[in-house]
Amino acid sequence: MRMPRSVRDAPVKGKRVLVRADLNVPLEDGRVADDARIRAAVPTLELVLERGADHVTVCSHLGRPKGPDPAYAIEPVRERLRELLADERLELLENTRFDPEETTNGERLARELARHGDIYVNDAFGSAHRAHASTEGVAHLLPAYAGLLLERELTELGKLLGEVERPFVAIVGGLKVEDKIGVLRSLSERADTLLIGGKMAEELRERNPLDGRVELPVDVVAAAELAEDAEAREVAVDAVPDGWLGLDIGTETRLRFAETIAAAETIVWNGPMGVFEWPRFAGGTEAVARAIAGADAFSVVGGGDSVRAVRELGLADRISWVSTGGGATLELLEGKELPGVAAIPSC
Ligand code: 3PG
Repeated sequence: MRMPRSVRDAPVKGKRVLVRADLNVPLEDGRVADDARIRAAVPTLELVLERGADHVTVCSHLGRPKGPDPAYAIEPVRERLRELLADERLELLENTRFDPEETTNGERLARELARHGDIYVNDAFGSAHRAHASTEGVAHLLPAYAGLLLERELTELGKLLGEVERPFVAIVGGLKVEDKIGVLRSLSERADTLLIGGKMAEELRERNPLDGRVELPVDVVAAAELAEDAEAREVAVDAVPDGWLGLDIGTETRLRFAETIAAAETIVWNGPMGVFEWPRFAGGTEAVARAIAGADAFSVVGGGDSVRAVRELGLADRISWVSTGGGATLELLEGKELPGVAAIPSC
C-alpha cells in the first residue's frame, strides 16, 4: 500500500498547522458519550505542539447536519479536547458540515480552511473515504502530511491486505448484505473462512453471491417480534417459526465460530452477530468478542458496533488493533484507495 508522508517529517516549528481530525463522536444530553476518537487525535496534536508549532487549528465534522444546527455544535467536543490537552496555541473550529461546501468539496471552503495553516495534517482516518473540502480539497492547497493515527491505521489495516499468517478468519455481521457487499466479496476471496452473523446471514442463506468458504449460523435466538422483551427461543435455522426474527446467533453457532476463531492466525471482525444492545440478544456478539480476545493471533476489530462491544466487555487491550473507522475501514479492507490519503504526497 502507498504510504503518505508523515507528520513526523513535517517542518512545523514556528508554523501554523491545520489539523483535520475525526472528532465525530456520539453525544448524549449535550455531552460527549464516547471520547475514544478525541483521545485518538491527541498524540498528533501533542507532537506538533511539542515540536514548536506556533498555532494549531483543528477542524472536524460532527454528525450529518445539512447546515448550521445547534444540535451539532462542536462545543461539547471542544470542552472534552480542552480537558485532554490544554494549550493556548490550540483551537478547534466549528463543525465543518455547517458549511454545505464541506461535502461538495467546494473550493471556497477549502481556501478558507487553508488560511488557518502553513502546513496541513490529515489525521482523520474515519473520514478518509470522503472527498470533502477539509479532508481532500485543502490537501491540494497546503503542504500535506498524514497524522500519527491515520498512519497507524494504514499500517495495521494494511497488514490484512498483503500476505497474512493463515488461517485468516474474517467475521462480518450487521444488517444488510448490500451495505457491505464490497468488503464481503473481498474478504470471501482472501480469507480462509468467512463467518457471517447478524441479519445479513438470512439474506445470504437465500442468495449467496460470495465465493470462498462462507459459514452461516446453524441456529439462532429467534423472537416473536423486534422488541427487547419479546418472547424468544433458541432454534435451528430451519425451525424458526413463521414471522419470527433471528435476533442473535445460537449456542451451537457460537461454539463453531469460537473454534474457528481459536485456530486462526489472522482475524478481522466487523459488525455484531445480533441485536447486542439488548442483553438477551447480546450473547453471540459477546462470544465472538471473547473468542477473538482469547486467540493467539493478529486481530483487528473495526466498525462502530463491534468496537463498542469489545470496549464494553473490557477486551479492547486484548485485540491487536481496534480501528477508529467505520466506512473508511470497510473501504480500505475492500482494497479501495481513500481520497483523503491519496491527496497526501507519498513519503
Ligand atoms: C464515521 O463516523 O464513520 C466518520 O466520521 C464519517 O462520518 P460520515 O459517514 O457522516 O461521513
